[in-house]
Parts: sequence; structure tokens; C-alpha cells
Amino acid sequence: MQIWFVITQKGGAGKTTVVTNLAVCAAEQNKKVLIGDLDPQETTVKWWQSREEDKGIQAVKVPQNVDQVKKVLDVAKLKGFDLLIFDTVGQDTRLHNAIIELATLCIVPCQPSLPDIRAVKSTIGMLEKKDVPFVFLITRCPPVGHEFEKTKQGLSAHGLVCPTPTIERKAYKNAYALGLGVSEYDPKDKAVLEMNHIFQWITKAESKLTNREVIR
Ligand SMILES: Nc1ncnc2c1ncn2[C@@H]1O[C@H](COP(=O)(O)OP(=O)(O)OP(=O)(O)O)[C@@H](O)[C@H]1O
Ligand SMILES: [Mg+2]
Repeated sequence: MQIWFVITQKGGAGKTTVVTNLAVCAAEQNKKVLIGDLDPQETTVKWWQSREEDKGIQAVKVPQNVDQVKKVLDVAKLKGFDLLIFDTVGQDTRLHNAIIELATLCIVPCQPSLPDIRAVKSTIGMLEKKDVPFVFLITRCPPVGHEFEKTKQGLSAHGLVCPTPTIERKAYKNAYALGLGVSEYDPKDKAVLEMNHIFQWITKAESKLTNREVIR
């Protein structure tokens, strides 16, 4: 089972948006997906509850406790889920350290702004210390300008950066509000191609990083 942990200590970086859309992309590839929501505000569980049909996705609230996380993981394996994605919030270092060790890949979203790049450094420190596979995903990029390239350059010193960012688009907000992924909200929106590229790249990066190969 793949276990993805979308982690950054910076609030509002786009974690939940990334988690919900990656879940939809995976489900569209016929994967059985479970989302473990560690956010006490249950942002992902609420998104899932507002879906008219689950379409291969389940979401469960996970108390912020290492034993509970392990329990969810065991149940997910027993029930035959292909992918378990954890969404989180805040700075519970002990809990985050434990999940980092269980994950097959950590995904670090980062907005292209100086405060966000500075704030991501503590997350990078945690990941580098554990020597676990992780990738960066730049989120909420302006549609024009050099923000993506500049941020990519800064983050590349620490690890792989997804070559496709999420662009700041209304479709992401609107889809969340309806319990949908962007592809379900509007198949013609540019966000759909973007998310599909991101999903494919992350999947490939995970298998390459797991095998410790070099990827482009
Ligand atoms: N690419 C995007 N385009 C437009 N809006 C976006 C995009 N990504 C995220 N958002 C919006 O930004 C806000 C914060 O995103 P999100 O809730 O995904 O972040 P988060 O990291 O989960 O936040 P928290 O730390 O509060 O859990 C939300 O209103 C979301 O709809
Ligand atoms: Mg969130």
C-alpha cells in the first residue's frame, strides 16, 4: 500500500486541496483511496461528506495520536486500500515524525513566497534528518511571472520539485466547496491537466525515490 503524507508546518499552504485532488486522481485510476484526516477541524472529512458519491474514496478522522495512526494504517491494509493519504495541520513534531517514518512518500506543498519558503525549512529539517523520500509541490502559483522558477531553484537544493505547480485557480476553491476534485467540477478547466500531471509525476517520483534512482 502506498502511504502519502502531505506535510508542512505552514498553515494554508494548500495541503487539503492537494490531498483531495490527489485522492480524486488516484480514484480515477481505479485505486481504492483512504484519506486519514489529522486536522481537528476535519477539513478533508467534511469535503468527503459533501460528496454525493464516494467514487472509490473513503475519509476518516484520525485522532492526533501515533497509535491511532498505526491502527488506521493496519485497517487500511486489511481492507485492501491501494493508497492512504494523510492530511494534517499544525506542528505536532512527535506525531509528524512518526508518520514520516511510516509514509512511502512525503509531499511538501509550498507557496511561492518568501515567508512560505522560510517556513518550510523546519519541515525540510525533519525530513532530511530521517532520510525519507520526499518531494516538493509548489502551490497557488500566479499564472504569470517568475515565481515558480525562483521557488523551484531555492527548493531544488533540498530535493525534487514537481515540475508542474498548482496555479491559483477558482476551480480549486469551487471544487472543494462541492466535495469534488477539479476534474469532477469542470473537466475542461486547466486545473485538471495540471493535477493529472502532478499525480503522474508524484507516482513516478515515489517509485524512483524508493528505489533510490535518479529522476529528471
Ligand atoms: N491552487 C489553488 N488555487 C486557488 N485556491 C487555492 C489553491 N490551493 C489552495 N487554495 C485555497 O487556499 C486556501 C488554503 O488551502 P488549503 O485549505 O488546501 O490549505 P491547508 O494547507 O490545508 O490549510 P490548513 O493549514 O488550514 O489546513 C483554501 O481556501 C483553498 O481553497
Ligand atoms: Mg488543511
